[in-house]
Amino acid sequence: MIIAIDGPAAAGKGTLAKRLAAHFGLAVLDTGLLYRAVGLKTVRRGADPNDADAAGAVARELGAGDLEDADLRGDEAANAASVVAAIPEVRAAVLEFQRAFARDPPGNAQGAVLDGRDIGTVVCPQADVKFFVTAPVEVRAGRRLKELRERGLEAIHSRVLQDMKARDARDAGRDVAPLVPAEDACVLDTSEMDAERVFAAALAIIKSRTR
Ligand code: DC
Repeated sequence: MIIAIDGPAAAGKGTLAKRLAAHFGLAVLDTGLLYRAVGLKTVRRGADPNDADAAGAVARELGAGDLEDADLRGDEAANAASVVAAIPEVRAAVLEFQRAFARDPPGNAQGAVLDGRDIGTVVCPQADVKFFVTAPVEVRAGRRLKELRERGLEAIHSRVLQDMKARDARDAGRDVAPLVPAEDACVLDTSEMDAERVFAAALAIIKSRTR
């Protein structure tokens, strides 16, 4: 079974992906981490994340070890990720990694849950079930602010909101694999739902679609 989960930042994709994977015994891949790893490594090499040659080379060399860096969760990685994600060479290299994961999930799992921006549209168009998890940008920025503060980081609401709007615009406005719901995706607006309700709603949809 392949489950595709797409949507903008801080909409609740990752939490849903992990819960569904645990429930069904599937492998889980946070595909944003791949772009974050490429972005961060490119910047650390002293290159501009807009530089297609530099970022493309990093993407082609990407290994599982690159996904372990704790800094991948930070804002520097997030912003660099959204820049390198618009480069076709980067997307082509990352596409291979993701498809290999879906085809042959680790740990002998009987399938996989992938979350990202283009899973249902490009990476796994044949997925058994597709979700588009979303919420208004103000709600998502509020969640991100809370999360940052809980991690003991200083954060200002206006800055978080501004960054998130810029990232949304880059992710939805790029030419290659922009952020859009697949035609056959179930849209879950999580503004008024906690993680438990999102999970329950997703489970009900999966049961009805895979019967
Ligand atoms: O989900 P995230 O915040 O970790 O993603 C970081 C960036 O990576 C995001 O701004 C867009 C990009 N991305 C993408 O283009 N395609 C994906 N499948 C996943 C992430």
